[in-house]
Amino acid sequence: MQSLKTRIERDSPNYARNRADHEALARTLRERQSWVVSGNRQREISRHLERNKLLARDRIGQVIDPCSPFLELSTLAGYGQYEGQSPGAGIVTGIGQIHGIPVMIIANDATVKGGTLFPESVQKHVRAQRIAAENRLPCLYLVDSGGAFLPTQDRTFPGKDHFGNSFFNQCRLSMDGLPQIAVVLGGCTAGGAYIPALCDEVVIVRGIGRIFLGGPPIVKAALKEIVDPETLGGAELHTYKSGVSDILVETEEQAYQAVRGIFGKMNWPTTQTFDRRESRDPLYDADEITGIVPVDYKIGYDVREVIARLVDASEFQEFKPSYGTTIVTGFAHIHGYPIGIVANNGILFSESALKATHFIELCNQRGTPLLFLQNTTGYMVGQQAEERGIAKDGAKMVAAVACATVPKYTVFIGASFGAGNYGMCGRGFEPRFLFTWPNSKVATMSSETAETVLVDVRRNGLKGAAVTDEEIDELKERVRDQYDTQSDPYYATSRLWDDGIIEPAQTRDVLGLCLALADRVPPAPARFRVFRM
Ligand code: COA
Repeated sequence: MQSLKTRIERDSPNYARNRADHEALARTLRERQSWVVSGNRQREISRHLERNKLLARDRIGQVIDPCSPFLELSTLAGYGQYEGQSPGAGIVTGIGQIHGIPVMIIANDATVKGGTLFPESVQKHVRAQRIAAENRLPCLYLVDSGGAFLPTQDRTFPGKDHFGNSFFNQCRLSMDGLPQIAVVLGGCTAGGAYIPALCDEVVIVRGIGRIFLGGPPIVKAALKEIVDPETLGGAELHTYKSGVSDILVETEEQAYQAVRGIFGKMNWPTTQTFDRRESRDPLYDADEITGIVPVDYKIGYDVREVIARLVDASEFQEFKPSYGTTIVTGFAHIHGYPIGIVANNGILFSESALKATHFIELCNQRGTPLLFLQNTTGYMVGQQAEERGIAKDGAKMVAAVACATVPKYTVFIGASFGAGNYGMCGRGFEPRFLFTWPNSKVATMSSETAETVLVDVRRNGLKGAAVTDEEIDELKERVRDQYDTQSDPYYATSRLWDDGIIEPAQTRDVLGLCLALADRVPPAPARFRVFRM
């Protein structure tokens, strides 16, 4: 297979400027991630440690295989909301390996409002379960939660994707043969109590683990009974009397050994779906991506330079290289796993959409997973494009993406605007994972375009005649502010529109971990819908 040859000039001013811009973005990302881990709650962290309890990420470190990776998801969920009271939305989710088995781990962070669940915590919990379902992963719940965060109960309790759905998912996952295991590590109240109660096997730690539908204050209010927490729902009560827990241990360390024991005897089959090759490093350093990709999406570059730094030996079997050249499609391997890549290299024309559709069909037919590298301002507009049928050609691409049954992965490496977001497998098209780079932007359109559109609509509308220049200036500023704020990647990740922001140089390894999960699950048979010709 042909290896891509780089043409970048490492000593050019543009390369140096791009790197400096990306370094600034990476510094911000790392600062915000470390704020999630330990920021804004020193008092709560100290109290947690004084109670002889481990922090959520240390718990995960103890239960997964030594020196194995943990792919943390949506670290910055809730960022910039609730006046900083919800770092990481008070919950840690991600995939780690226990006795070689990839497991979805969902751990409450009791240092954030007693591990209670904000709207984004519930979204993160439910998203983790969906990932578990798609990738057939057992789930481990490290439960330390007081249930719903009551001030936002209207956005966590009653709706379809709210807290109730997480319990529904627990039942369905278990029904589908995906083990649901819990360790009880704190005062698990109300919803927090149902998580272990709905698990297949439960470990509880003496002295810190408690389970009750209503805590002592509620019992006092309802029944006038005065009872201490340990008597009401401690480890002994639940292991010796109620039967809500199966194994009682004395320390957290023993709990993780018990969990490892459960997974060690799980009889979990190892299957292999893909024609896996030996993993080979790319010919070029992934670190160079930041010198290649300008942080301003309006400045063009050749996306093959990025692909050359993501795929094994930089080998890329390009499909239709001379047709529809604003999209790059081709076959490669990442960490030995086969992958079909669809990457933007300019605006999407009819030819680009048709080429992408054809390529997606090929991958689906061959069971090859798809990777979408999104940097798109959308499909071409204008009379010529309409006459050529951009609407139906774009629709073919969107339909192919929607119907493809192979695992799909999306990385926003620049802009993600308009219907380009859909055709390139945005969140609504259910990629197995969606990650973004810190320079990405996602919105219906850019702030400049939105400003022009809305000013035009205002001028031509019913009240147009009365509009003053000052009102137009005020409108422009408002629209620009709104679009700049809402297209920011932190705004997006805070609301779970993705599975996390990653640094460009981490992309290859993150995708390798995701593909390793997919290797264990045979894809559904390939089928397509009616395409408009
Ligand atoms: N909703 C909103 N805030 C809650 C909360 C809830 N359900 N449960 C606890 N909090 C807040 C507390 O007010 C406190 O906030 P502050 O730091 O601003 O004062 C913070 O979370 C920590 O709570 P605290 O009680 O000090 O911590 P703890 O570790 O000793 O106990 C709990 C944690 C969760 C076991 C305990 O607070 C509790 O039982 N809460 C009530 C749970 C409940 O009834 N849930 C019903 C859900 S339907």
